[in-house]
Amino acid sequence: MAELKRRVGILISGRGSNMAVLLQAARDPDYPASIAVVLSNRPDAAGLDTARAAGIATEVVDHRPYRADRAAHEDQLMARLDAAGVEIVCLAGYMRLLTPHFVGHYAGRLLNIHPSLLPAFPGLDTHTRALTAGTKLHGCTVHLVTEALDAGPILAQAAVPVLPDDSEAVLAARVLAQEHILYPLALRALIDGTAVSPPSGAALLNPLPEPPAASK
Ligand code: GAR
Repeated sequence: MAELKRRVGILISGRGSNMAVLLQAARDPDYPASIAVVLSNRPDAAGLDTARAAGIATEVVDHRPYRADRAAHEDQLMARLDAAGVEIVCLAGYMRLLTPHFVGHYAGRLLNIHPSLLPAFPGLDTHTRALTAGTKLHGCTVHLVTEALDAGPILAQAAVPVLPDDSEAVLAARVLAQEHILYPLALRALIDGTAVSPPSGAALLNPLPEPPAASK
């Protein structure tokens, strides 16, 4: 049993397959994180049902009523995360830009998974752009979130080949399979402050940042 599981909050906007693998990993008594809450900015996010079925607390903080007031929306997210005692936040297909207000509050303990080998292809439509560019190596990245889009310190990356007949869907599925291996490993590495044995095709980059301070 992990001595003290760190309380993690997950932010989603949709399908939630990366969320699901984090929930699965956290069921292991030896995994150093527990999932305290799943938040979605979209009421119709399919991942909410997955989380509920797993017995995890969920909350919807719909961004639409806040219109352009991103900080007010983020205040609501932060209030719920803090109320749940969350120490570490994992973005898992959370498709909204976060302001410095939110990023600063969780500095060093806010992770994101991105479907490219950053710094290549930040932003959206990564698989289509990789195919268009003719890149032969693609993959995914878990990184700490900073104010700059998809540019924070890299915790782990997993690479996959781009094959001649790949469609966007086929390539996305190949990358997603690696995302599902990589995210639980990277979260564990952040918490433990150690590198882990990378999965096939993955490399964990050092030095890892300091693990977050123990909870009060
Ligand atoms: C994943 O491929 C994730 O890397 C990507 O969205 C997908 C979410 O799938 N994230 C981004 O593009 C963030 N910019 P999921 O909801 O099944 O985890």
